Amino acid sequence: MIIAIDGPAAVGTGTLARGLAARFNLAHLDSGLLYRAVAARVLAAEGDGSDPDQAEKAARTVTVESLSEPGLRSERVGRVASKVAVHPAVRQTLLGRQREFARRPPGETAGAVLDGRDIGTVVLPNADVKFFLTGPLNVRLARRVKELRARGERFIQARVEQDMRERDQRDRSRAAAPLAAATDAHVIDTTELDAEAVLETACRLVRSSPRTSRTKVRRVSGAPSDTAQKVRSQESP
Ligand code: CDP
Repeated sequence: MIIAIDGPAAVGTGTLARGLAARFNLAHLDSGLLYRAVAARVLAAEGDGSDPDQAEKAARTVTVESLSEPGLRSERVGRVASKVAVHPAVRQTLLGRQREFARRPPGETAGAVLDGRDIGTVVLPNADVKFFLTGPLNVRLARRVKELRARGERFIQARVEQDMRERDQRDRSRAAAPLAAATDAHVIDTTELDAEAVLETACRLVRSSPRTSRTKVRRVSGAPSDTAQKVRSQESP
């Protein structure tokens, strides 16, 4: 089973992806981290993300193994990530890494869940289930601020807000693979929903999707774990 999740900054695609990965025994790839790893290399070379050749060279050295590098989640790296993400050659280079992950997910898993901006539209147009999460800037900003506090990062809220606004704008308006909902995506407005409620909504949609047969879900739910138990009990009519 392959699941694609897209949405703007701090809307909760990563949280949902981790939740679905645990419920359905899927490998998870946060594709934003690939762009962040490119940005970190560009920053290390004192670039600002605007040079396509420098960014492409950096992208060639990024692998799925690079994603545990420290510092990738910082606001500064996120800002430059959205700049390198504009360059078609960077996107093309990272496309192969993402498709390869979905084709051969690591470990003993039942498939993969990828989250990002263009997973359902460009990276995995044939994904079994697609989600597109939405939420207004103020709600997403509150989530990002909570996350930064939890990580003990120092930040200026107005700057974070400005960055998110600019990043969303750049992601939506770029020519190559802009942020957009696939026509066959389930759009979930997260304004009034906490992370658990989004996960429950998505789980219901996965189980009722014609592309994810009950056989597949049952096989996963047969795994000896608490989450598998939950899946089974929720499946009962
Ligand atoms: O977690 P957050 O919402 O801050 O963003 P992210 O998922 O880490 O992505 C960082 C940046 O990478 C985004 O602002 C996009 O510009 C870019 N990105 C992309 O273009 N395509 C993807 N599939 C994932 C991320």
